[in-house]
Amino acid sequence: MSSTMNSIAAPHGQTPGNSHFDPEKGWTAAQLQALRAQFPILAETIHGHPLAYLDNAASSPMPLSVLQAMQEFEQHQRANIHRGVHSLSQRATDAFEQARATLKNYLGAGPEHELVFTSGTTEALNQVAYGLWGAGPEQAWLRPGDDIIVSGLEHHANLVPWQHAARISGARLRILQPDAQGQLHLDDLAALLATGRPRVLALTACANATGECPPYAAMLSLARQAGALTVLDAAQVAAHGLPRLQALECDFLALSGHKMHGPMGIGLLAGRRQALEQLYPLRLGGDMVEHVSYQQARYAGLPARLEGGTPNVAAAVGLAQAARFIEATGHAAIDAHVRALRAQAVQGLSAIAGVRVLSPQASAAALVSFCCEGVHPHDIGTLLDERGIAVRTGHHCAQPLLEHLGLGPTTRASFALYNSAEEVERLCAAVAHAVKVFQ
Ligand code: ALA
Repeated sequence: MSSTMNSIAAPHGQTPGNSHFDPEKGWTAAQLQALRAQFPILAETIHGHPLAYLDNAASSPMPLSVLQAMQEFEQHQRANIHRGVHSLSQRATDAFEQARATLKNYLGAGPEHELVFTSGTTEALNQVAYGLWGAGPEQAWLRPGDDIIVSGLEHHANLVPWQHAARISGARLRILQPDAQGQLHLDDLAALLATGRPRVLALTACANATGECPPYAAMLSLARQAGALTVLDAAQVAAHGLPRLQALECDFLALSGHKMHGPMGIGLLAGRRQALEQLYPLRLGGDMVEHVSYQQARYAGLPARLEGGTPNVAAAVGLAQAARFIEATGHAAIDAHVRALRAQAVQGLSAIAGVRVLSPQASAAALVSFCCEGVHPHDIGTLLDERGIAVRTGHHCAQPLLEHLGLGPTTRASFALYNSAEEVERLCAAVAHAVKVFQ
């Protein structure tokens, strides 16, 4: 494992590095402290308690280096991009394109790939779904009678746009259902692909409501062999467990900046150029055209074709800095750290009478979702908040999955590189307390 920096007392913008990282022991207390110091929001106190921020699957805080990169852009480079010959516009354009290059590298994209900036995973997935019917019945990828296969683990953002795409195009929406434990099976996908006309498979790399990590690499590969375009929702693996794009049979990959220590309002749609070229643009207007007359327009090539309007350039710059931060900290170190915290939480929560942990076997996830018999998750969340512990409660925008599993809302704790074993202990103690109070 290589490291770019070794200093533990790292100045802003640096990380403690991972040259001494021992997967058995994790980061030392001093290394963890140095990491935490780079996230100012972690120093907040909530109801008199130190904040234990365990809602990283929803949004993860930004380190100082990201805040600084954005401020630097706003102070010294801010101008519209791709439009002016003046120097500031050139600087802004360079910063935007440099961010694209950094993020392509972060994703492990190859020459066959392109990367498009979006406002987040939701917009990226909407762009794909819309893009496959938006060209109209003659030209669109989706035709009446085609099959769109969507896994039953999905966030609403990777289901609702496909419901609409099916309605408009006349395609059939088919759900790859998980079993009673919430696991997907390759055989079930093979059976769906063997009948009908599969044109799309949309799948998550990690279910945000349960932590289930399906065998997505094998599933994408199977679907592609059957002639489908493959869509991977990588939102929950953006900061840890991120696959390399080049290693996947993936046509479209979507993720959000705010789940990988970057800003809100920025995300990525990466994919194979050939597949991206199939998409009809969601946003028509400036910067995505080559020539316009009163009656018609010739659209630009990728990536501009899918980036109509003025993008959030400062956020793109910040997101690229977040990618650098994660890389300097070390993918392997982060993955091992969050997985260890998840294992600790699964063990601690499972030991509490009346608590059921969902997908306990999903060891690659960085989140744990659980139900407490007879206690509403909102009550759990409120009691945890009183102790300074931030978790998410509810259906997690995955209502069909939770209904399929015969469950209602759940409580979800999710981990990032700066969380500690002590915070997980606080979580388990607070849940045990809440169960005692409410049952
Ligand atoms: N999609 C985000 C979550 O899972 C908001 O919490």
